[in-house]
Amino acid sequence: MAARPGWIPRMTAKAEWWLARNTLACRLYARPYEQVIRREITLGNMRRSDRILNVGCGPAPFTAMLLAEEGFSVTALDCDERAVGLAREAIRSAGYVDRVNVMIGNPATDVVPSFDVALVALQVRPKDAVVAGLLHSAGAGARILVRESATWCEGMYDHLTGGDDVTEEVYHHRGALERTLVIRECIDGRTAS
Ligand SMILES: C[S@@+](CC[C@H](N)C(=O)[O-])C[C@H]1O[C@@H](n2cnc3c(N)ncnc32)[C@H](O)[C@@H]1O
Repeated sequence: MAARPGWIPRMTAKAEWWLARNTLACRLYARPYEQVIRREITLGNMRRSDRILNVGCGPAPFTAMLLAEEGFSVTALDCDERAVGLAREAIRSAGYVDRVNVMIGNPATDVVPSFDVALVALQVRPKDAVVAGLLHSAGAGARILVRESATWCEGMYDHLTGGDDVTEEVYHHRGALERTLVIRECIDGRTAS
C-alpha cells in the first residue's frame, strides 16, 4: 500500500482545485510544462494517430491540454469523481472537447480504455499497481510513460519499484518532477524482452 502523499503533492493538488476554475491561470501554470511534454512526445515516440491515455489528469488537466495543443487526441483519466467533473469543465472552457475526453477510472483497479501511449502523472499512486493494470490493457507496441519525482522529495511521492522494464528516461529537473521513464514496449499484456 502506498504511503500518504507528502505536503508538496497535497499542496499542488489543492492548488489545482483553484486553477481548474480559472482558465487563464491554468494556461499560465501549464506553460513551463511545454518543454516537459515535448521531451515526453519524443521519448514515447508519439504519433498524432496514437491513442493517448493520461492517467491522473487532476481537476486542472494541463498535460492533456498541452497534448491537445500538439495535435494529439487524449483520454484523460482520474480516479476522483470531483476532479473528473472539474477537468471536463476546464476542457470545455479551454475549447478542447474535440480532442480530450475525460473519464473516471483507476488502472490499478479498473479496466481502462485501450491505448497506444499511457502517460502516468507524478502524483499517481500506487504506481506499481497502476502500471500492472495498464499492461493488462496494453496492445502490441504500446508504450507506458511514468513521471518520477526528484530525490529530495522522493518520500512524498509513490514510485515504480521494478526498474528492469525501464528502457529509457528523460530528465526535466522541474521542481519535484525530475524525470519521465518509458517502460519497455508491450506485447499482449507483457513487456518485450
Ligand atoms: C494533482 S493531479 C496532477 C496532474 C496534472 N493536472 C496534469 O495535468 O499532469 C494528480 C491526480 O492524480 C489522480 N490519481 C492519483 N492516483 C490515481 C490513480 N491510481 N488512478 C487515477 N488517477 C489517480 C488524483 O486523483 C489527482 O487528481
